[in-house]
Amino acid sequence: MALVDGADPAFVRDVLAGMALPQKAVPARWLYDEAGSHLFEDLTRLPEYYPTRTETAILAACAADLATQVGPGRAVVEFGSGSSTKTPLVLDAISPAAYVPIDISGDFLRASAAALAAARPGLPVHPVKADFLQPVALPSAVEGLPKLGFFPGSTIGNFGPRAATDLLRSMAATLGEGAQLLIGMDLIKDEAALVAAYDDAAGVTARFNRNLLQRINREAGGTIPVAQFRHEARWNDTQARIEMHLVAECALSFTIAGQSFAMGAGDSIHTENSHKFSLRSAALLLMAGGWQIRTRWLDADALFAIMLADRASANFAP
Ligand code: TRP
Repeated sequence: MALVDGADPAFVRDVLAGMALPQKAVPARWLYDEAGSHLFEDLTRLPEYYPTRTETAILAACAADLATQVGPGRAVVEFGSGSSTKTPLVLDAISPAAYVPIDISGDFLRASAAALAAARPGLPVHPVKADFLQPVALPSAVEGLPKLGFFPGSTIGNFGPRAATDLLRSMAATLGEGAQLLIGMDLIKDEAALVAAYDDAAGVTARFNRNLLQRINREAGGTIPVAQFRHEARWNDTQARIEMHLVAECALSFTIAGQSFAMGAGDSIHTENSHKFSLRSAALLLMAGGWQIRTRWLDADALFAIMLADRASANFAP
């Protein structure tokens, strides 16, 4: 059976383990191969996908206030910088001492760091290629500087409460004493608006989701009948999250790396979660992760929130 040369063994392992679960699931990070990353960039620009433009507008509107709350001279540390277009809004709002983009993808990192450095000749830029889920050792050049962590896009919502708490604690460890965190969090709203953001009329999100099946076929020797799966975005009200699923439209079977799997009509593969927050659940999550909200900014329709939090000190609790 055909395992593609150079296929990531961790990918094959995760897919086989996830397909053996009663509710089939594949870890969301495997959605982001090259094709997936491009589709992802496209879907954030869709009319139904309100978070990107809303967060950008909030950042532009709160710039002066942000400058007052953050003060000058911090090193801005961005987690998962990717190809972020929001970073200049933060760097231009405050007077930062340095910019440290952290990303697992060296390509994205080099390109975005070079572009930012070129546009701001006076600003030291120190890219770090690392997995930010673990505490990251920052470059010695920013050692003595107070930090401002930046984590836009409501990416925190793609983690469950437990993993999100661990991640926030890792960030607190990475950023150190006196740090602040500027974090975007998408808010609970009308179900139809939430579902539409993850199931656009043009079908880009559907292509993004179905690309995972093509990747499995290509890289893990799969025989999945991709055309017989449809994309579904579901609001799970108890867990306050949008779930992306790939639903089998009829009973079907396939193999992956030589192992056989069968699905009934309506059975699904769960591929990603996007948790949504109330202002209180957001505050609670941040506190559990070692951060205390200082200020928050919302758009006029309360679609999205940007929180500025302080790293809680050890004696934070009474
Ligand atoms: N974190 C954002 C969100 O949950 C962006 C995102 C991640 C996304 N995965 C996605 C958007 C899948 C649409 C579909 O909204």
